[in-house]
Amino acid sequence: MFKNKAKTGNNLKEKVSPKNFTKNPIKGTKFTVMISSAKGGVGKSTFSINLLFALQKLGYKVGLLDADIHGPSLPKMIGLNERPKTNNDKFLLPLEKYGAQFMSLGFLVDEKTPMIWRGPMVAGTIKTLAEKVLWKDLDFLIIDMPPGTGDTQLTFAQDVKIDGAIIISTPQELALMDVTRGIQMFNKVKIKILGLVENMSFFKGDDGKSYNIFGEDGVEKTAKEFDKKFLGKIPINTELRKSADLGLPLTYKKPDHEISKIFADIALKIKQDVL
Ligand SMILES: Nc1ncnc2c1ncn2[C@@H]1O[C@H](COP(=O)(O)OP(=O)(O)OP(=O)(O)O)[C@@H](O)[C@H]1O
Ligand SMILES: [Mg+2]
Repeated sequence: MFKNKAKTGNNLKEKVSPKNFTKNPIKGTKFTVMISSAKGGVGKSTFSINLLFALQKLGYKVGLLDADIHGPSLPKMIGLNERPKTNNDKFLLPLEKYGAQFMSLGFLVDEKTPMIWRGPMVAGTIKTLAEKVLWKDLDFLIIDMPPGTGDTQLTFAQDVKIDGAIIISTPQELALMDVTRGIQMFNKVKIKILGLVENMSFFKGDDGKSYNIFGEDGVEKTAKEFDKKFLGKIPINTELRKSADLGLPLTYKKPDHEISKIFADIALKIKQDVL
């Protein structure tokens, strides 16, 4: 019995220890940036879409892959509900809006689903999304990940060539504990962490005061602790939330808004780091 236990231990070690994975680059894009968080609901999707248009404002061709197969939020956030066309039933053509390219499982879910989806729908869906979309001449592809550091994320991170990851968190202690797990996951699969972002940092009331609803400076401290870059703080903002609900992202609609400027600053940092 003891022997078996030791064997399992070794197997596990082998499974998670750093090694050289065969990572396939996503075709049609120069840089692939993954937006991730171990905890759900911290603002990955909101961040992804607004970063996308902040990068577009810098003059880049951008695309967004919504890899959240269980709860795709892109169709609503971008106000798109068309079915993507296929190229000879082999590749999916991304949808286009506001000059950017988009793909989400949310665009593809009924019996009219193209052939290439029926089998892979069950296994390796995210991986298929990464391989079967015909992105056109992108500078940046942003991947909005589902929450967590489970098998799905790990497999994806091992198989697909990612140029960098951004970890989103709120300053809440519970969320910060998960940030540590996220950092460890990316270290394991040798993906460069471009930096950490604190979302829902504070709320500025009508009285002009800032309220630290989820705590204070937690993400910045965590970034320091792990020697990672801190990319910025995004406050709780009604307009940011509403614009995502309306399918008209704030950084696209109002690039001069104070929140859009925070995204512009983060986009610039990413540009400097990746290029
Ligand atoms: N800075 C913010 N200010 C106000 N509302 C926000 C902010 N960031 C996110 N939200 C809102 O919080 C909710 C969760 O955000 P979002 O869907 O972006 O999180 P997520 O991390 O992608 O969630 P999931 O883990 O389920 O994919 C949404 O209703 C969104 O509009
Ligand atoms: Mg999401």
